[in-house]
Amino acid sequence: MKLAVIVGSLRNESYNRALAGVLVNRLPSGVTAEMLELADIPFMNEDLESNVPASVRRVANQVAQADGVMILSPEYNRGIPAVTKNIVDWLSRGSTGHPLKGKPVAIGGISSGPIRTMVMQSQLRPVLAHTEAIVMTSPVLALTEGQDNMSASGELSDATAEHIKRYLAAVVQHVQRYEVVT
Ligand SMILES: Cc1cc2nc3c(=O)[nH]c(=O)nc-3n(C[C@H](O)[C@H](O)[C@H](O)COP(=O)(O)O)c2cc1C
Repeated sequence: MKLAVIVGSLRNESYNRALAGVLVNRLPSGVTAEMLELADIPFMNEDLESNVPASVRRVANQVAQADGVMILSPEYNRGIPAVTKNIVDWLSRGSTGHPLKGKPVAIGGISSGPIRTMVMQSQLRPVLAHTEAIVMTSPVLALTEGQDNMSASGELSDATAEHIKRYLAAVVQHVQRYEVVT
C-alpha cells in the first residue's frame, strides 16, 4: 500500500511536517509513503488549466498513483490555510484528472493553540466531501505542540504515541476498505 502525504504548511520548522515524518516512520510494514512538495504549486487559476503547470501535474500524478492520502494541516484564523485549500482545489479539477475522486483520505493536524486544528478539520471535511474523496471519520488526530502531545522536534508523549498507533491502523483499514482495485 502506498500513501501520498500532503502537508499544508510551507514553514521550514513546521510542526505538521514533523508530525507527517512521525507518521511515516511509524507506518505498519508493507505501507510506504511519499511526501508531496507544495512549495512550487501556483494559486488555482482557471486560466492555467488549459496548460496545467508541471508542478501541479507532478502532485496530481503522485495522488493518482497512491492508494490513499493523508493530509496534515495547521489551522489559520479558525480556518483552512491557503496552502491546504489550494492543493485540494487543484486536485478537485478535471484538468488534473480529479485524483481525489473516490480516494480514501485521512486528515489530521497539530497547532500551537488549544483548539488543536479542530475548527480547520471540521471545515476541511465538507470541502473534501465535495471533491468526492472518502474521508476517514475516526479516530481524530488533533494535537497541540508541547509535552502533552508532540514536541516541535517530533518527540511524543506515551499517550500520543499510543493514539498515533491506533490512528495509523485505522488509516490502513480505511484505505484497504475503499482503495480502487486496478
Ligand atoms: C496566519 C496564522 C493564523 C493562525 N491561526 C491559528 C488558529 O486559528 N488556530 C490555531 O490553533 N493556531 C493558529 N495559528 C498558529 C499555528 O497553529 C502555528 O503557527 C503552527 O505552528 C502552524 O503550523 P506549522 O508549524 O505546521 O506551520 C495561526 C498561525 C498563523 C501564521
